[in-house]
Amino acid sequence: MDADAQKRAAAARAIDYVKSGMRLGLGTGSTAKHFVDLLGERARAGLQVVGVPTSEATRAQAEACGIALTTLDETPELDLTIDGADEVAPDFSLIKGGGGALLREKIVAAASARMIVIVDGGKWVNKLGAFALPIEVLPFGYGATLRAIEKAISGVQKSGPMKLRQGREGHPFVTDGGHWIVDAALGRIDDPGALAHALSAVPGVMEHGLFIDLASIVIIGGPDGAKTVERPASR
Ligand code: 5RP
Repeated sequence: MDADAQKRAAAARAIDYVKSGMRLGLGTGSTAKHFVDLLGERARAGLQVVGVPTSEATRAQAEACGIALTTLDETPELDLTIDGADEVAPDFSLIKGGGGALLREKIVAAASARMIVIVDGGKWVNKLGAFALPIEVLPFGYGATLRAIEKAISGVQKSGPMKLRQGREGHPFVTDGGHWIVDAALGRIDDPGALAHALSAVPGVMEHGLFIDLASIVIIGGPDGAKTVERPASR
């Protein structure tokens, strides 16, 4: 089973958690895309749900699939968010943001009673950090913010090379919120909670890709199908 088939297997298992009447957060990325496709099939067959998309890409896909959409203004509390991740550690801390949607993804996950993370087997790691940590920043004051980020990281652990994510034609990648993303190659993150706290305190940092205490279930696609892991003290 290749990685994409594993993603689809995880997405298919997550569908079992969706019940009629639920208010859902809809994640972003290639794994979440499988979930939205499958949810669209159910919605067209009569399943009654409403969704809050975590990106403009997911909004377009969900609309095309026939899924009813809402906003966090109309529906500030959600039952369940289903989203992918770039890395998942055994304590259920995550790195997200590889697809550039981390700010909306975190707002939507935080507004949800539960978050199910769907990943292929390669995303489960002993320690976070091999995947460069996405940090979403305001373009204003970028140089000063970058220095402050480096200082904040160094106060907690060894820092590493920072790269401004590139978009088209030599321009920085711009998020749905109009921000830029710095990818911090840290190699290993020993204390995700402490690092998350330090980064959140930097003015100009809009959000970072460390998701702590948000995921309650992780579904991991593997060569033999999907495996479900529940966090011991579930939210
Ligand atoms: C987007 C994300 C994605 O969930 C993450 O990048 C995983 O993507 P994929 O499912 O394509 O591997 O955080 O901001």
